[in-house]
Amino acid sequence: MARTLRVGMIGCGFMGKAHSNAWRQVPHFFPLKARVEMHTICGRDRARVEADRGLLGWQFAVTDWREVVESPLIDIVDINTPNDSHAEIAIAAARAGKHVLCEKPLALNVKQAEAMFAAAQKAKVVHMVCHNYRRVPAIALARRMIGEGAIGEIYHFRARYAQDWLADPEYTLKWRLDKGISGSGALGDLNVHIIDLARYLVGEFKEVSGLMHTFIKERPLIGASGKGQGQAPKAIEKKGKVTVDDAATFIGRFDNGALANLEATRVALGRKCHIAVEINGSRGSLYFDFEDMNRLKFFNNDDPKDRQGFRDVLVTQPNGIHPYIAHWWGAGHVLGYEHSFIHAVADFVNACVEGKPVHPTFEDGVKNQQVLEAVELSAKKGQWVKV
Ligand SMILES: NC(=O)c1ccc[n+]([C@@H]2O[C@H](COP(=O)([O-])OP(=O)(O)OC[C@H]3O[C@@H](n4cnc5c(N)ncnc54)[C@H](O)[C@@H]3O)[C@@H](O)[C@H]2O)c1
Repeated sequence: MARTLRVGMIGCGFMGKAHSNAWRQVPHFFPLKARVEMHTICGRDRARVEADRGLLGWQFAVTDWREVVESPLIDIVDINTPNDSHAEIAIAAARAGKHVLCEKPLALNVKQAEAMFAAAQKAKVVHMVCHNYRRVPAIALARRMIGEGAIGEIYHFRARYAQDWLADPEYTLKWRLDKGISGSGALGDLNVHIIDLARYLVGEFKEVSGLMHTFIKERPLIGASGKGQGQAPKAIEKKGKVTVDDAATFIGRFDNGALANLEATRVALGRKCHIAVEINGSRGSLYFDFEDMNRLKFFNNDDPKDRQGFRDVLVTQPNGIHPYIAHWWGAGHVLGYEHSFIHAVADFVNACVEGKPVHPTFEDGVKNQQVLEAVELSAKKGQWVKV
């Protein structure tokens, strides 16, 4: 009889919804090594968390995360709160012997991330950062192809994660614009995902040179004004200071000699969730765009010269041909954003049963955080910084 792993999920906003969907779907599509029970959901507001409990499919609802962490019934703690609370919750959960899945960025800074990694290691629990894009089938295929040498020695990694929701100056001063809660802006919110992909696909960063900029320096306070987030306009406009970057861009060098060029912005009008990655090697190139996430473009320099060009690989072949697809539909029956979370949760659950590490671990979280900190320091000093 398979054992049962009971999950407690903390935070029920955007990611709470995505993770709940993953926990709900995963046992119906993946052969898990344990049964999964969606036990407790935790939010701060009693009425809202109770409504979310019913809507998202959890058995119990609580308003204090300590109840989840301390409950002897819970095996897995899934952290979906804003960034300033990740460390405290994850460390408490690990000390209580729970396996921990934590949203990105792992922490506010390297010191916190290291403490989280140390606590998880000491407690011998399984730990994972939810960099879900690693488990988009096209990205997993890119990793496999690079490992097989399909594009040869890597020369360039170029990635851009661009969104436009902060181009509206009326967007209110939410937690993502407050450095004390978020740690940084586009850097830790978006760049961290493509930093993680760079490390996953190419290797470790050696040094970086960064730029960070805040274009809109003041925004309406929540509840004070404006059109932002559907709030009714009021006569008096009250604004507060934005303490994070709207955009963060850097160039760098990997340990293996490849060059890096990464850009993250939340003010690129017309760009919604534009994660574009291009990798050029000595034998070929790969290109991925999340807004067309079922496809991987592949240029193979070994193709006959008269018919060379980027091949358009629809990454939906079942029967073990393309990663994760065997558990879904027939060829060409495309997947979406939510599947990346289901894949992450499937691998995480099986790792918990086996007691084995599952990438990206908190150690990856520490390494990603080291790159974030190096970019921030470089932007501040106007100098190259070693990672
Ligand atoms: N993997 C991804 O692609 C991805 C996408 C978006 C956000 N994130 C990350 O997920 C985390 C949450 O982001 P979000 O977009 O869901 O934010 P959100 O603002 O939509 O939701 C945050 C939730 O946490 C709750 N919360 C805050 N403090 C709490 C506490 N002490 N106890 C219990 N609940 C608390 C809030 O009430 C809210 O329900 C962040 O770390 C963010 O960076 C990751």
